[in-house]
Amino acid sequence: MLNFEFKNPTKIIFGKGEIHKLSKEIPNDAKILLLYGGGSIMKNGVYDQVKAALQGFEVTEFGGIPANPEYDVLMDALKVIKDNNINYLLAVGGGSVIDGTKFLSAAANYSGEDKWEILKKPVRTMEGEGIPFATVLTLPATGSEMNSGYVVSRRGTNEKLSTGGPGLFPQFSILDPEVIRSIPKKQIANGIADAYSHVLEQYMTFPTSATLQERMMESILQTLQEVAPKVLAEEFDYDAASNFMWCCTMALNGLVSKGVLTDWAVHAIGHELTARFGIDHARTLAVIAPSHYRYNFETKKGKLAQYAERVWNITEGSVEEKAEKGIVKLEEFFHSLGIDTKLSQYTEDYRGTAEKIEEAFTERKWLGLGEYKKLSPQDVYKIVEMS
Ligand code: NZQ
Ligand code: ZN
Repeated sequence: MLNFEFKNPTKIIFGKGEIHKLSKEIPNDAKILLLYGGGSIMKNGVYDQVKAALQGFEVTEFGGIPANPEYDVLMDALKVIKDNNINYLLAVGGGSVIDGTKFLSAAANYSGEDKWEILKKPVRTMEGEGIPFATVLTLPATGSEMNSGYVVSRRGTNEKLSTGGPGLFPQFSILDPEVIRSIPKKQIANGIADAYSHVLEQYMTFPTSATLQERMMESILQTLQEVAPKVLAEEFDYDAASNFMWCCTMALNGLVSKGVLTDWAVHAIGHELTARFGIDHARTLAVIAPSHYRYNFETKKGKLAQYAERVWNITEGSVEEKAEKGIVKLEEFFHSLGIDTKLSQYTEDYRGTAEKIEEAFTERKWLGLGEYKKLSPQDVYKIVEMS
């Protein structure tokens, strides 16, 4: 097992009817900016619960943060923060609202003129440097509610970049599985696929000696497989919803990756497909992952075979046969969620994409991706071509 340090300061308040606890967690003298997305919280009662909990607090609101939070919109929010001397941010939404809030937390204290630099360089925000913030999660998927990473898009330049740092953990996050009642099935499928992919990015490298971490990751994958049909069914199942929500948080709160090498190439490439075609984040991962695993079959086959064996109970065949079956099982799982796994199923305009991504990675000096930091822009070109 590799050496590691682990600190996750985010307090989790989990369960039905817990949103009212906001009032106990936020300092009384906070000047709060309540941030939300396109308005789903107005229809499902979450906004009313939040407002009721914040009675007596000084609250300004900023709505309209779009999916794949847009830099230009966030710059408008930054102005509201400055104009109103805001000193506490409350994100009420999914990964996009939470990520946008993390960017604002960092940007408000960043002295540079061009705030996009934060994502470009990327500046690792130090402990305590961001404005304090908390979240009320409405969509399980990204794990952003309990990690310090974030992703911001800039449509004008076809960019979608990620960064983060130890000063950007939420102070607390409220996770009420009841919010899942109102999520469209397509978004639930995205959430399952995203969390599943987060585990795979940390798992699908090579068999390691970090036995506990490997088993934890396999448990999350199996639990997601088990609850998927239940959370996608018409009837709401509170226990399935709870397990789904907690799996998503546990998949990316930093715990399972301690002591192991991680990959993250699928996300790096997937972000390009969202930036260029607007494809939902999770769906880009389903497009890239199978090709990535086939392209890197020789280095990943040991772990792919372990995945097939332990997660899908495939016990027959050689390492290579099991590994290939593992990839097929993964594709079938995405399909069972109603998620297509070929780029051509999302856009007719896919020709030339591989070249453009290769160029972008070369320009950004992303010259070595993957667990061995050896995947070159030319390798990325081939993976996108296969997808
Ligand atoms: O905007 P509203 O009206 O709220 O609607 C949202 C949005 O249209 C809707 N929604 C959310 N909760 C709902 C709901 N609809 C009904 N009922 C509810 N309870 O769902 C839509 C998608 O929301 P969004 O926040 O965009 O989805 P998600 O949580 O999947 O976040 C995606 C973003 O997170 C980034 C992605 O790249 C993408 O930009 N990621 C962040 C990560 C992190 N911070 O660690 C890691 C991930 O890998 C990912 O890259
Ligand atoms: Zn993701």
